[in-house]
Amino acid sequence: MKKKKLLLIGLLVLLFSTGCQKKEGIIRAEEWQDKYPEIYASYMRNEEMEETTFGGSVPIDYLEKYPDLKVFYDGYGFSKEYLRARGHSYALEDVINTARPKAGASCLSCKTADFIEVLERDGVEVNKLNFEEFVAENPQMSTISCYDCHKNEPGVVNLTRSHLTDALDHIDEEINSKTLACAQCHVEYYMDAETKKVILPWEKGTDTDSMLAYYEENNVTDWVHPTTGADLLKAQHPEFETFNGSIHYNMGLSCADCHMPEIEEKGNDLLRTHQWTSPLKSKEGLNKSCISCHGGTTDDLIAKVEDVQRGVYDKQEKVSAELLDFIERLTAAIEDGVLSEDDLAQLRDIHRRAQFKWDFVFVENGEGFHNSVRAHEDLDGARSLIQEGIKILEKYDR
Ligand code: HEC
Ligand code: HEC
Ligand code: HEC
Ligand code: HEC
Repeated sequence: MKKKKLLLIGLLVLLFSTGCQKKEGIIRAEEWQDKYPEIYASYMRNEEMEETTFGGSVPIDYLEKYPDLKVFYDGYGFSKEYLRARGHSYALEDVINTARPKAGASCLSCKTADFIEVLERDGVEVNKLNFEEFVAENPQMSTISCYDCHKNEPGVVNLTRSHLTDALDHIDEEINSKTLACAQCHVEYYMDAETKKVILPWEKGTDTDSMLAYYEENNVTDWVHPTTGADLLKAQHPEFETFNGSIHYNMGLSCADCHMPEIEEKGNDLLRTHQWTSPLKSKEGLNKSCISCHGGTTDDLIAKVEDVQRGVYDKQEKVSAELLDFIERLTAAIEDGVLSEDDLAQLRDIHRRAQFKWDFVFVENGEGFHNSVRAHEDLDGARSLIQEGIKILEKYDR
């Protein structure tokens, strides 16, 4: 009797301890393969690269395609190398291999959850560690994987980036978790000059004027342009901010509704694809995520998307030429030493703001689709600033 009781207690203790034994640390994508084979297979297809008319994931060389960039980004890493983004599979290797200098280990924030784990364990100082040394000391790192959006609970959105959860304090509305999962990385950010901490500039709002006001107030500058002397800002990849307030956003759609349609078959069920790429590549995906509302054929809808993108692209090219002309004229006037102190300060401020607005549209990966209204507004805003600047310069023309 006694023995039996002991055995029972022993068994219970054993059951309890194994039941509670949650695996610590990051469970890797490969380890979920057996449980979620369809999702894992779609996740592995992020290695595929394919071009679309305006987008796609073939790493074209932006500096070759848009030579004006060498002038705009003069004096900054992006004038040395700038390739188009490709899939999540490459995020970690691409940041390691880029020819651009890295501010600190915090450049890994949006490439791997392994960095976040060390950051949370060892504290904010980790941001400042030397990038190359951190990479050499952490060979276990893997690129964006299940943990980044789910932690160790596949299917549930669990945010892992505190730079996002901190910034959400400034946002009043409730945002769909299937958008927040992506807003962990597809956002505008800057790194604090001293601590190298990643910060999202949302305190005053998520449009360019609010961000510029925030940057002004907090004295944020990414670099000084070598020929105009302007304190410049580099826009990053503001997909979330651009999408915010668009037609589709206001209808309640999330990033995942268009980029993760339910097209992966598991018996009779359909699961969300985990191949994050251009929705225009898959007719099956378009049928699922767009045609339900829009009707018509997928070809017609692709043409509609491309019309919207072409409108933004054409204006972006024109404003790019105007910005180049402005920078060249400002540079010449500075070389001539003719500008008054006030005018020079104002012209530099115009360079800063106009270039940020132009860049915000240029670097946004939806190529104008996510929110064509906002893209046109930003380009128009850049254009009127440039015109204001040209007027000041014309005073010195005679
Ligand atoms: C209403 C549908 C829709 C929503 C919602 C949406 N997107 Fe997109 N996204 C698109 C389309 C269409 C493109 C253009 C693809 C192209 O040009 O090939 C695109 C392009 C992109 C690209 C570039 C892909 C490429 O291959 O060129 C990225 C990155 C992206 N979206 C991220 C996001 C993020 C992050 C969100 C949420 C903040 C989001 N999208 C919300 C439809 C959507
Ligand atoms: C942990 C950071 C992170 C998260 C979270 C994240 N992305 Fe990305 N994403 C990236 C990075 C970095 C790249 C660029 C990779 C490269 O080129 O090296 C990228 C590239 C992309 C691309 C371009 C690839 C292509 O084929 O066009 C798309 C589309 C995309 N992401 C969509 C999404 C969507 C949708 C979500 C949310 C469901 C999301 N991402 C969440 C970091 C992230
Ligand atoms: C970039 C973010 C992101 C990554 C990385 C990611 N997921 Fe997801 N996953 C999502 C989102 C968003 C949903 C939809 C959640 C919802 O409906 O609330 C989802 C849904 C799921 C579901 C539920 C099935 C369904 O159709 O909705 C499972 C299971 C899942 N993910 C497993 C995985 C596994 C396994 C991995 C790694 C191989 C992974 N996820 C990586 C964002 C991600
Ligand atoms: C919930 C319904 C809904 C879904 C889902 C949806 N749309 Fe829309 N979309 C609309 C409405 C409504 C408008 C505004 C009226 C119009 O232009 O047709 C719109 C507008 C557009 C526009 C014109 C945008 C502009 O800037 O002028 C394009 C292009 C478009 N959608 C493409 C897509 C694509 C591609 C998808 C899927 C990836 C999609 N939509 C998914 C409802 C939807």
